[in-house]
Amino acid sequence: MTLTSLDWETFQALSLPDKAACLVEDRRDLHVLFAQQYTRERLDALGELASKIRLVAKTKAGSDFLTSLLSHKRAMLYFTQPSTRTFLSFSGACQILGMGIGDVRDSTTSSEFKGESQEDSVRTFSSYFDCIVMRTQEQGLAERMAWVLSHSERPVPIVNAGSGKDQHPTQALLDIYTLQRSFEKQGGVDGKRIVFVGDLKRGRTVRSLASLLARYRDVRMTFVAPDPLQIGQDILDELDAAGTVYERTDCFEASIPEADAIYMTRVQDEWDREKGESARLDISAFWFLEKHLPLLKPTAILMHPLPRRNEIATGVDHDPRAMYWRQMRNGMWIRAALMACLFRRDQDILGYAG
Ligand code: NCD
Repeated sequence: MTLTSLDWETFQALSLPDKAACLVEDRRDLHVLFAQQYTRERLDALGELASKIRLVAKTKAGSDFLTSLLSHKRAMLYFTQPSTRTFLSFSGACQILGMGIGDVRDSTTSSEFKGESQEDSVRTFSSYFDCIVMRTQEQGLAERMAWVLSHSERPVPIVNAGSGKDQHPTQALLDIYTLQRSFEKQGGVDGKRIVFVGDLKRGRTVRSLASLLARYRDVRMTFVAPDPLQIGQDILDELDAAGTVYERTDCFEASIPEADAIYMTRVQDEWDREKGESARLDISAFWFLEKHLPLLKPTAILMHPLPRRNEIATGVDHDPRAMYWRQMRNGMWIRAALMACLFRRDQDILGYAG
C-alpha cells in the first residue's frame, strides 16, 4: 500500500500505524509526517548519522564535503505558525548540506491572501523546491499536502515541522537523539524513566516523543500534570498496545527523585477555547525550581523543547544536568541527518574518512 495508490478518503480513514507504513519505502521516508514512522532501528541509524555529521562539520574540509552533498537541492520552509528554533535549525541543517532555502512565514504575504488555496500554494512551492518543510496551526494539513503532492507530477517530500496540537515528529527525533547521547555510557535509553511535566494534553512535542519512547525496552513514563492538562487517551492507547508501563499523577515533587529525564513543557495557552482559560489554573506546583536540584539524580537530565516561561527557573541553567540548550543544538544535527536520508546521501556521509 502506498500513498500514491490510495484516494484521499481511503488514506485518511487508515489507522495511524497503517498511514505511517504508507510513508516509508525500503526503510526510507517519502514524507516525514508522524513520529510513528520511525522504528527503533531507524532511530539508532539517524542518531549515528547525526553524530557523524557533527564530527565531520568540525573541520573546513569536512564542512566543505558536507556542503557539496546537496548543493543541487532546495528546501522551502513554509512556517505560518510562530517558530524560532525549528525554523532556524532547519535552515542551519539545510545550509550544512549546501541546500538553498526559501521561506514563507506569514500567509498574508503570499497569494493565500488573495484567496489561493493551500493546496495550490504548496503545489507552487513544489515547482521551485525539492522539499517542503511546513509548520501549521492546522492538524492534518501536512498529511493532506503530502497526499496532494504524491498525486502531482512533482511529488517532493513534505516534512512536518509541527502540526496543530497533534504531532511534532522532528522535535521528537531531536529529543530521542538527546536521550541517546546523554545515556550513551549508561546503557542507552532502554530501562530509563522519563517524566513529562506540564501541558501534556496540547503539547505536540510530548505526544510525539511518548510515541517514540514506546519503541524502547522497559522505558517507563510518568505524566505529571493537573487533570485538565493530562496526556490524551490516544497516546495512552498506543503505550498500552506497545506494553509500555506508565503512570499519571499531579504530584510533581514526588516524581523528581525517580526520574532519569524530566521533560518540562510550557502551557500551550494559544489553544485555549476561551480567553484566560489556562490562566485560571495554578500551575506553579509544576515548575522546576533551584530547590528541586538536590532531589534530582546525579545522572539525570532536565529537558525542555523551549520556549520556556516560568516552568524552569533560570537559576537552574548552570547545572550540568540542564540539557535544554544542548538539546536545542541537537535539533540542527538530527535535522541535517534527516535531510541527508531523504535525499539518499547518508551512506556518503557515513563513508567519509577525512
Ligand atoms: C514547541 C512547539 O512548537 O510545539 N517548540 C519547538 O518546536 N521547540 C514547543 C512549544 O511551543 O511549547
